[in-house]
Amino acid sequence: MENKTLFDVLVVGELNVDLILDGIEKFPEIGKEILAKNMIITLGSSSAIFASNLSALGTHVGFIGKVGTDNFADKIITSLNKKRVNTEYILRSSSTNTGATIALNYGEDRAMITFTGAMDELTIDDINPELLKKVKHLHLSSTFLQKGLKKDLPKLFKMAKQAGLTTSLDPQWDPSEKWDIPLNDILPYVDVFLPNRKEITNLTRTVDIDKAVKKILDYSNIVVVKDGSNGAYLWTSETHIIQPIFKNSNITDCIGAGDSFNAGFIDRFTRKKPLAECLEFAALMGAVNTTKPGGTTAFSNLEEIRNIASTRFNFSF
Ligand SMILES: Nc1ncnc2c1ncn2[C@@H]1O[C@H](COP(=O)(O)OP(=O)(O)OP(=O)(O)O)[C@@H](O)[C@H]1O
Ligand SMILES: [Mg+2]
Repeated sequence: MENKTLFDVLVVGELNVDLILDGIEKFPEIGKEILAKNMIITLGSSSAIFASNLSALGTHVGFIGKVGTDNFADKIITSLNKKRVNTEYILRSSSTNTGATIALNYGEDRAMITFTGAMDELTIDDINPELLKKVKHLHLSSTFLQKGLKKDLPKLFKMAKQAGLTTSLDPQWDPSEKWDIPLNDILPYVDVFLPNRKEITNLTRTVDIDKAVKKILDYSNIVVVKDGSNGAYLWTSETHIIQPIFKNSNITDCIGAGDSFNAGFIDRFTRKKPLAECLEFAALMGAVNTTKPGGTTAFSNLEEIRNIASTRFNFSF
């Protein structure tokens, strides 16, 4: 069979930088100025963390998203390139700036403001059906942050399935808390659905995970629910697997654990590994994420990931 594959995984997603301010003297007040001791500017967004970490695991990843023409756009593209994510299909908006999240850290808690900017402008027309034919898997994250794509999710996933791809979707949080996407029109075309506990219960307007899954399993394929330090669960119409966490007694932070979990799952899934192995490896990558600050620091390269997995979690791969 000829090899027409451009990427193993195409990520369609939101892109933004995170400006993280630390050591802030008190809460901001209108009309006054306060000082912060530290600031870092780093690659943000669930989709970009997923893409970077999946690429570090050795999967060939391409990205479609939209940024502005400002310096933040350059920062995002450089960071993705550093992790060998292909960025040639990332579009530049001439009418608005790159998305950004300003995070004010107060100890364990943070207040965040997000400007969605260019990420709102990505639409289904930006996704060339010919490109879909050259990739094996489509992953989409942060449905509610991508206003221009949201209404066309059923169409996009259907198009991907018709082009012979496998697909995955992480809905992420809905800042408007309306949770208004038609799951019954989308999930039949999604091979792996990857919400967390709060997202699946809000999306299905139920109070617990079992009831939520029961509501959608008839028209879903593989449903994986992330439940923080309780672990994760997987359902298909025939299987139910419970995955405990890999215990980390010295957590740095959990930023991006869900995206790293997704990267682990999709890395194994696209290598056609059994579902129990996909889920276990996902949990391992979620745990690896918690050993270093932020979402991508633990994932500098495969050797380093293997090193963390064996020294911190006694797991060799
Ligand atoms: N403290 C922890 N120790 C070990 N593993 C963890 C820890 N927190 C999370 N994980 C692993 O990572 C997975 C995903 O984490 P979580 O449930 O927080 O995802 P999420 O809510 O989607 O996160 P995100 O905020 O990154 O979107 C968990 O199911 C678990 O396997
Ligand atoms: Mg998440």
